[in-house]
Amino acid sequence: MSEEGTGVSEEFGKEFWEERYRGHAAAGARRPNPQLITEAGGLPPGTALDAGCGEGADAVWLASRGWRVTAVDIAATALRRAREHAQALGDAVASRIEWIEADLTTWAPAAGHFDLVSTHYVHPAAARDALFRRLAASVAPGGTLLVVGHHPSAPQAHVSHAAAREVHFTAEEIAAGLDPERWDIAVAEARTRSVTTRDGREIVLRDAVLRTRRRLDGHV
Ligand SMILES: C[S@@+](CC[C@H](N)C(=O)[O-])C[C@H]1O[C@@H](n2cnc3c(N)ncnc32)[C@H](O)[C@@H]1O
Repeated sequence: MSEEGTGVSEEFGKEFWEERYRGHAAAGARRPNPQLITEAGGLPPGTALDAGCGEGADAVWLASRGWRVTAVDIAATALRRAREHAQALGDAVASRIEWIEADLTTWAPAAGHFDLVSTHYVHPAAARDALFRRLAASVAPGGTLLVVGHHPSAPQAHVSHAAAREVHFTAEEIAAGLDPERWDIAVAEARTRSVTTRDGREIVLRDAVLRTRRRLDGHV
């Protein structure tokens, strides 16, 4: 995978995301990502990292299923809402989640630590490959890495930002950055689904989904 920048990293920096969250009301009890439910629903609870957790729906879902979750995002507004959402569900859920405000392009999770590392629609552009390498390195032996993003073949209509095209990826591109002797690929595919936007429009999304398991002897 290329380490070269796409020139859009600053456009997708902290200010971009803060503005985006400030610009709309809290999502409240938004449902977790469907690919998370499909891919992680059968895993036994352990320690999880939600990288780029946004308003926390995935972290809350994992915690409510018994996972101890570290949830990281660059946007303070999103994290405040996420924390409030978790607290409203009670201590059993809230106490299982640690919220961390950090820039994933520089923040380094503990190596070999998490039973599940999950990241959905985080596209830091220039630092993407290095980010996914660090996330992979933080998966414990026997643990799962789940990467979901917008697939390049997604319909043009839903791309709200021209530069966004440059940060889409396929599951195969992300898998290519993992040592095949250390990782077993369980799922690497594109999936199409329909969603209703905040303003009530029906749009079609195409997800790139990579689920891979680090072998028990798979040192990074
Ligand atoms: C499209 S949203 C997805 C949020 C959530 N994962 C979901 O699926 O609903 C992308 C999220 O990644 C976060 N993010 C983007 N770049 C980041 C970075 N460099 N470090 C940490 N978080 C980042 C944004 O603040 C935002 O919450």
